[in-house]
Amino acid sequence: MFPLLLLPFIFSLSYSCPNGTFSSSLNTSICYTVLEGAAGKHSWYDGEALCQVQFNGHLASVPNAFLNNFLNGYLDATQSKTHYWIGGTTTTASNASWTWTDGTPFTYTNWEFGDPGTGPYYCTYLEVPEALWGSPYCSYSSSSYAFLCEFLNTNN
Ligand SMILES: *[C@@H]1O[C@H](CO)[C@@H](O)[C@H](O)[C@H]1NC(C)=O
Ligand SMILES: *[C@@H]1O[C@H](CO)[C@@H](O)[C@H](O)[C@H]1NC(C)=O
Ligand SMILES: *[C@@H]1O[C@H](CO)[C@@H](O)[C@H](O)[C@H]1NC(C)=O
Repeated sequence: MFPLLLLPFIFSLSYSCPNGTFSSSLNTSICYTVLEGAAGKHSWYDGEALCQVQFNGHLASVPNAFLNNFLNGYLDATQSKTHYWIGGTTTTASNASWTWTDGTPFTYTNWEFGDPGTGPYYCTYLEVPEALWGSPYCSYSSSSYAFLCEFLNTNN
């Protein structure tokens, strides 16, 4: 009797994201985790590279307000940084040129007042707990910024 009761728990474990990472109910195929750069390696470029090397992933894309609020709430409850690089970037001055590094459509936005910037090589952070986005230069490197990675859940 007792081992049978444990079965659903074991199954639910095998389908969840790896220890130390998390997913939203929106799409449990996508796992998220926070990484921090080494000394002097806090730029958006460093973050995208680290997400690729460590998880074969990317900086996170944020497709809608549900996920934006979920990520903001999770980070606020579990982390101590205020700025998290996410995968939005632009290489030209037109707002229409914003893209996500994972290749999904850049449709939803939640810019703070005055953003996005209109120059090339601007990238996107999620500011916690405001849940708003800013657009500094991609090369901006500050230890108060962390990286929000996403990767496919191979258990799912
Ligand atoms: C998950 O990782 C943490 C710290 O790395 C560890 O303390 C914990 O025991 C791990 N949990 C499981 C279920 O492996
Ligand atoms: C979940 O994310 C994966 C990877 O991006 C995608 O292939 C899949 O279509 C998504 N599922 C839903 C229900 O959005
Ligand atoms: C980009 O969008 C911002 C905010 O909506 C706007 O103020 C700015 O004029 C736009 N820039 C361009 C080049 O379209």
